[in-house]
Amino acid sequence: MSAPAAERRSDDFLEAGRKLFAGPCDFIWAAAKIDGLPPMGAPEIAFAGRSNVGKSSLINALTGRKTLARTSQTPGRTQQLNFFVLGERNAGDAADISDGRMRLVDMPGYGYAAVGRAKVSEWTELMHAYLRGRASLMRVFLLVDGRHGLKDVDVATMKLFDKSAVSYQILLTKRDEVKKSDQDRRIEETIAALARHPAAHPEVLFTSAETGEGIAEVRAAVARLLAERGA
Ligand code: GTP
Ligand code: MG
Repeated sequence: MSAPAAERRSDDFLEAGRKLFAGPCDFIWAAAKIDGLPPMGAPEIAFAGRSNVGKSSLINALTGRKTLARTSQTPGRTQQLNFFVLGERNAGDAADISDGRMRLVDMPGYGYAAVGRAKVSEWTELMHAYLRGRASLMRVFLLVDGRHGLKDVDVATMKLFDKSAVSYQILLTKRDEVKKSDQDRRIEETIAALARHPAAHPEVLFTSAETGEGIAEVRAAVARLLAERGA
């Protein structure tokens, strides 16, 4: 018999992760308002972070689809909570969104004033409303631009997650834009900053949606979470 999921290493889940993300993935729901969230169904993983860090690009890289989530060079592209379902669906009933193995949730970016203060606070409210008491939320991936590291607004978001006991993990992005000699240092300084954050997962992954570096490891982390949840 294999060891319980909690005792296995993330590497043990590389194949499970590959399989999980090789299956179908469909857009199922967009929520622009707090009262517009979908009913809970399969376990969820949400992608949060400042505008333009690469949330939508990472979802595309994970699922191996170029245009599933819309991306843009201009910050403020994603303006709603977009829900995608991974895995086989009930063929008979297209309106049934309670199925699938799990959901990926692409969030609007936070902290970008150029879209207007009102919009930023609207999106922040929406993010908070979603995070509050979402029993089906397994983890938030908090994306941080690997070229810059943690910003004040990220630390403020981490404090919010700590306070609401939302399990989260930092993923550094745009690894291809960071010199090899700086990559380890960026990971180390990020891990050091996590010590003060009780709800943070201790492991930090450095990804690139361009080259695919770190993508298999993120898939494995997701497969591991599902296994630990017994889903
Ligand atoms: P908002 O929806 O506005 O919050 O942005 P987002 O976080 O979803 O970012 P998005 O995925 O739209 O990417 C923003 C820009 O960064 C685009 O021009 C992407 O091509 C670029 N980008 C994303 N990931 C990477 C990466 O790994 N490497 C490089 N070089 N560019 C990336
Ligand atoms: Mg986006």
